[in-house]
Amino acid sequence: MEQYIINGGVPLKGEVEIGGAKNAALAILAAAIMTDEDVVIENLPDVRDVNVMIQAIGAIGGSVVHLNRHTVRINGFGIGKLSLDYEYIKKIRASYYLLGALLGKYKQAEVALPGGCDIGSRPIDQHLKGFRALGAEAGVRHGKITAHASHLHGSHIYMDVVSVGATINVMMAAAMADGNTILENAAKEPHVVDVANFLNSMGANIKGAGTDVIRIKGVPKLHKTEYSIIPDQIEAGTFMFAAAATKGDITVKNVIPKHLEATSAKLVEIGCRVEEMDDAVRVCATERLGYTQVKTLPYPGFPTDMQPQMAVVLGLSNGMSTITESIFENRFRYVDELHRLGGDIKVEGNIAIINGVEEYTGAEVCAPDLRAGAALVIAGLAASGKTIIDDIVYIQRGYEDFEKKLRQLGGRIKIVKTEKEMKQYQYHTA
Ligand code: UD1
Repeated sequence: MEQYIINGGVPLKGEVEIGGAKNAALAILAAAIMTDEDVVIENLPDVRDVNVMIQAIGAIGGSVVHLNRHTVRINGFGIGKLSLDYEYIKKIRASYYLLGALLGKYKQAEVALPGGCDIGSRPIDQHLKGFRALGAEAGVRHGKITAHASHLHGSHIYMDVVSVGATINVMMAAAMADGNTILENAAKEPHVVDVANFLNSMGANIKGAGTDVIRIKGVPKLHKTEYSIIPDQIEAGTFMFAAAATKGDITVKNVIPKHLEATSAKLVEIGCRVEEMDDAVRVCATERLGYTQVKTLPYPGFPTDMQPQMAVVLGLSNGMSTITESIFENRFRYVDELHRLGGDIKVEGNIAIINGVEEYTGAEVCAPDLRAGAALVIAGLAASGKTIIDDIVYIQRGYEDFEKKLRQLGGRIKIVKTEKEMKQYQYHTA
């Protein structure tokens, strides 16, 4: 079992390079199998979820060749299996993107109900609604989502909730349907736009991604492409909050500052200095930060994936803050862990009431999910003394070389695998 050992209390300073967006990568990898020609994808993050998706594509007969750590060549010609097994699926929620991709290309798909982080109930009704509107029979049978159609046709679809996953999934299937599809109340997240741009580079005809109405003209065939994934706004935001929590000064490089506006605005509001450059953002905090109110919303609102990191920063602020979680109901599971570090947070329904404390004090905590795990690492780096983080496998699902990047910024963090290694580390940092 691996753990992070952190000796906190050091302000993080320096520059950090952000990788490709995990959530865009997962959908783009799935969409890459929609042609029988070679697709080269660059700027892929080397993280567990992405690697599971790559294995899953291999498992159904697609060919995936790593050209280097962050570039793969995919070819969907050899796909012989339209059903994806539980083994791959249970590990990542985004495996459902193979449904839209396979349904669009082969008019048939079967994927076991997905796993992923336990951050609340995660229904798939909007995915099914979209597939049905395109003419597919879609439903859940024996624990699997199945969808098939004799042919897919364009449709006018109004999404009842704004869903990133359903928007992307239905967009993929509609890209190869006969005729025109209008997708209303679509999600506007940057990775929705990235997937649309990727599909367009393969010959799809998708307009309006990034607004709440996406118009898709179906095409019979997609072709080869080379594509580079956008930077990960959540990884970037995590380092921005790390600067704020540790009273540091971090320049987050290789980002699209526009995608980070909700995060930057909150940091400025509580007293950080935020400097935007063309493809970098610098966050600097010198004094104790102020309080604020935050509500998670679909893009361009404040992202739910940044909510735990924000809570960690507000937990150290001067005053009482509130965070309202409006996307996932089970996203405050880190609060008990933060109590161990001395945080003062009370949860009432979907609102966290945070009374800022002067400092966190190191303790042993468990990462309850991906983003909450990263938030606890930030808390540990800000805390005085030693923090041990268990279950870091969650964090490795979405952050490449997290501890290395933090070490480059001066963070005293290390992965340990065994009791012996842990004792050695304690000895060296004593
Ligand atoms: C994606 C991201 C996740 C992020 C979330 C919100 C990936 C792999 N994951 O998850 O990191 O936290 O967007 O930005 O990209 N809903 C329904 N019916 C559906 C689908 C969703 O009611 O069919 C609801 C959900 O319960 C939730 C809301 O819609 O309340 C948003 O979920 P959605 O945008 O679909 O999240 P994911 O795509 O699962």
